[in-house]
Parts: sequence; C-alpha cells; structure tokens
Amino acid sequence: MLGLESSCDESAAAILRRHPDGRIEVLADLVLGQTEAHAPFGGVVPEIAARAHAEAMDGLAAAALDKAGLSLDALDAVAATSGPGLIGGVMAALMTAKGLALGAGKPLIAVNHLEGHALSPRLSEKLDFPYLLLLVSGGHTQLLIAEAVGVYHRLGSTLDDAAGEAFDKTAKVLGLGFPGGPALERCAEAGDADRFDLPTPLKGKPGCDFSFAGLKTAARQIWDGLDAPSAQDKADLAASVQAAIATALASRTRRAMKQFAGDYPDVATPRPLVVAGGVAANRAVRGALEAAAAQEGFRLIAPPMKWCTDNAAMIALAGLERLVRGETDGLDAPARARWPL
Ligand code: KG4
Ligand code: ZN
Repeated sequence: MLGLESSCDESAAAILRRHPDGRIEVLADLVLGQTEAHAPFGGVVPEIAARAHAEAMDGLAAAALDKAGLSLDALDAVAATSGPGLIGGVMAALMTAKGLALGAGKPLIAVNHLEGHALSPRLSEKLDFPYLLLLVSGGHTQLLIAEAVGVYHRLGSTLDDAAGEAFDKTAKVLGLGFPGGPALERCAEAGDADRFDLPTPLKGKPGCDFSFAGLKTAARQIWDGLDAPSAQDKADLAASVQAAIATALASRTRRAMKQFAGDYPDVATPRPLVVAGGVAANRAVRGALEAAAAQEGFRLIAPPMKWCTDNAAMIALAGLERLVRGETDGLDAPARARWPL
C-alpha cells in the first residue's frame, strides 16, 4: 500500500506491506517538512503550503517506491488523505494518488486524516480495540474511542483553538518564533508555573470538550500588562500557560477515562490511553496525562514521535485496513476541508 499525505505542512509518502500473519512492515516512510517556508510568517500559510505540496508529491511517491525497491505494478492500491485539512494541500496528495491509481489500474482509497491518527498506535505495537485516544496537534484536539476500524466515537473536541494552536499563539505573543510549541517548552524550563493565575477553561462544565481561546487571551493580557517584562517574566508566563494547557488536557481526559471504563467494563486494567499529535511531545502534557492515567487505571501509550506528528505511514495503514475490508473509492472522491471522524 502506497500512502500519501499533504493536509497541513508535511508532504509525506510511505509504503507498507501486510504479511499473511497480519504483521505490518514499513518499507518506506518519507516526510518533507516546510517549517522554513512558513517561519517568516509565524504560522502555516495555506497558499505556500499548497504550492510546496504540489511540487513535492510526485517526487516523494517515486522516492518511496524506489526506497521500497518496488514498481507501481507491485502495489495493491494507492491511499491518500482526502481531508480534513487545508484544501489546496489536501488536493496535492489526492490528485497525485488519483493519477497513479488511474495510470497503474489500481484501486484508490480516500483516507480521513483523523482515522490515520486514530490507527497510528497500531503501527508500532499490537493494540487491540477498543482504546481511548487523545489527539492533540496544531489542527486537532479530540477525545475518541476507537472501537474498531471505521468505528470511532467522539467524546469531545475543541470548541475553538486546538491545543497546539494555543502553544503556537502564546509563543508568538512572547516572541519565541515558529513552530511555537517546542520553543515555549524550552522557555518554560526556567519558569515558575505557579507565578501567574490563568483561567481554567470550561470550569464546571460537564463533558469532554476543550477550549483554549480564553487561555491564550488571558496570557496575552498578562503579557501586555507587564512593564518592561524580563526574561524571567517570559519564562514564568510560558511555564504557567504550559501547565494550564497540560492540566486542562488531563482533566478532560480523566472524564473520558471514567466514561470508557463504564462503557467497556470488560477491558482489563490497565486500560489503553493513546496520545498522538505533535503536542504529545510536550513533557508537561505527558506528565499530567501519565499521572491521570495511573489514577484511573489506564496506561499511557505514545507512538514514536515520527508517527505522532503528520506522516504517510498512518495513511497507508488506514488504507490497508480499508482495502482488506473491500472498501475502495472512485476517482471522483472529493477533497474535503472538513470531515469529522
Ligand atoms: O501533529 P503536528 O506535527 O501537526 C499537525 O498540527 O497536524 O502538530 C504540530 C503542533 C504544533 O502546534 C506544535 O507547536 C505542537 O504540535 N508541538 C508542541 C511540541 N512539539 C510540537 N507543543 C508543545 N510542546 C512541544 N514540545
Ligand atoms: Zn494531523
């Protein structure tokens, strides 16, 4: 299975082989980032992303085949992300996949990017359904129960910004550069997380939804109110925001864990809690989730970082799972900006 991905700011191509015993072998797994192209603008610029994907996709597909030592003929099918994401970018991988599928006479599989993330832990370990998944990236913040391939229950999602966006936008206010999440984590190392009081998002509200816009605004107001802020002020605010995001993620995830435990009493403890997405790299976030998981009788599973962030191996895996179920798509499969799982 060849998988292609271009929904945000990584162009990626991967090839997987499924062995008769079900084992998945990764034959090629290529990712081309665009950080430098977007850095001067302090965020992902959709038009720049789309052009870069369009330039990269065919070469990446060829390089993946080359790396795997395969010709197009050897493939069983071609899978591509067909949403959700920045529409110009999504079209790059999808159109390339359509061209390859049509030219080689292979089936096309149009993959939901979020399903790729949801299945990604199964690339690196044997993980049985059902499991709880917290997806936290620059574009998504969702709590899902993965019950089976194609069967996902969304317990909650963000009402405004994604968690990664909250990191990135706060980092921008503090003048820390792009991408902001890792820069903010570094800055926070020297900071006091108890220095500033930040609001608790959706305090007292039931459910598993998230909200980060208020935190971001509060951080900006605190920053603007500081008279000639010092490096220590900056580190303290970075640490306070990071702690607030980590606490918000962990407290909502705790509710989801309680729900999962009630809905699936037969799943043995420690029950599986998977965290995926770029924000899973943050140590404060992981620490808060690990503590919450331990208290609720869950174990935290984080796929290797290369499969936590956007990649094509997870898209190829979702494609494979769909193909073995006989689910393929026509060449008229649309690119979708929005596509809830
Ligand atoms: O999954 P990802 O690579 O791309 C998508 O958004 O789909 O996630 C990128 C996001 C960015 O918002 C980035 O700032 C955040 O993940 N991120 C982090 C860290 N590393 C990446 N946020 C906080 N701490 C980090 N160490
Ligand atoms: Zn993603």
